[in-house]
Amino acid sequence: MLVDGFGREVSGVRVSLTDRCNFDCVYCHNEGLGDTRGPMEPADNEMGTDDVVRFLEVVREFGVEKVKFTGGEPMLRQDLAEIIRRTPDGMETSLTTNGTFLPGRAEELRAAGLDRVNVSQDALDREAFAEITKAGAYDKVLEGVEAALDAGLDPVKLNMVVFDGTAEFIPEMVEHVGDNSGLRLQLIEYMPEIAGHPEWAIDIARVHEWLDERADRIEHREMHDRRRYWVDGGMVEIVDPVENETFCANCHRVRVTHEGYLKGCLNRNDDLRPMGEMSRDEIRTTFREVVDNRVPYYGEYMIRDGDGGWEVNEEYVGA
Ligand code: GTP
Ligand code: 5AD
Ligand code: SF4
Repeated sequence: MLVDGFGREVSGVRVSLTDRCNFDCVYCHNEGLGDTRGPMEPADNEMGTDDVVRFLEVVREFGVEKVKFTGGEPMLRQDLAEIIRRTPDGMETSLTTNGTFLPGRAEELRAAGLDRVNVSQDALDREAFAEITKAGAYDKVLEGVEAALDAGLDPVKLNMVVFDGTAEFIPEMVEHVGDNSGLRLQLIEYMPEIAGHPEWAIDIARVHEWLDERADRIEHREMHDRRRYWVDGGMVEIVDPVENETFCANCHRVRVTHEGYLKGCLNRNDDLRPMGEMSRDEIRTTFREVVDNRVPYYGEYMIRDGDGGWEVNEEYVGA
């Protein structure tokens, strides 16, 4: 496995397959690229099926064990099942989706080799859901979650971005996953960098405290040093990139944009050639370079630069 200059092994890749989306969530960071709004028709700048597969084959050679497909909304790609089917053996395959296209298609994806799925569901309340997503597809999402469970995708995680539009729903969401075996909840600290509106952020430490008081068991997950709480039989994981000092220090993923640009970090864009223009050998070399040049974004290893941003604490480079 390749290791970067901060001692972080790259065990996974996160591949955005499109930036098109049928939702327009108010908080969307679009995988670090900004505005996700746009037509639902296939875009001509998306990586081709073969480009995605070739990339996965190359990273598998380097020992990468996991792939996460994401978007925009990755299920808008008609070749998603084919990509999953052609994903190299030995890679855990997961998908992050808004869930609306899972009814009727979850089985097909499972049969193609998809292991698990994360579905964005920020509220159990229809009106709040519509306000957040700017879409009226609440029932479809619930159906999608059921379809994923029925298809045997395991686990099915619900993604809830924690900001001042959702914080009040945390208790009922925690209760909801306690009642539903197979479901887990990911409470995600709102990242304002690309989405804007820093005033929407709420202090994730308060959520940790609330769960600390209720949890029967607490575990740590290595990827991003996330904390997992077991509450009333349900599992709740906190994804807290901004406030968790060791989140970035435990980041083991390289990203690819929908256009095929490699990125060492979700919040940074490197200036490289897209996948479709590179030979297999060039992808090998570029992947190594990207890993070599990866820099954490928040937390340990970084220091505040005085302008509200962060810079690398040189003390840690090569440590
Ligand atoms: P799994 O839990 O393994 O399925 O992965 P995941 O948490 O990455 O899944 P998902 O795609 O559902 O992402 C949940 C949230 O974590 C999203 O808000 C992502 O933007 C955020 N996230 C995932 N990886 C990173 C990362 O490396 N850096 C930052 N800052 N945020 C990330
Ligand atoms: N901050 C935190 N999480 C976000 N997501 C989208 N935008 C943001 C943001 N600004 C999450 C959603 C979605 C996943 C891909 O990213 O939960 O499920
Ligand atoms: Fe962004 Fe995902 Fe919402 Fe689509 S469903 S707008 S990609 S957060």
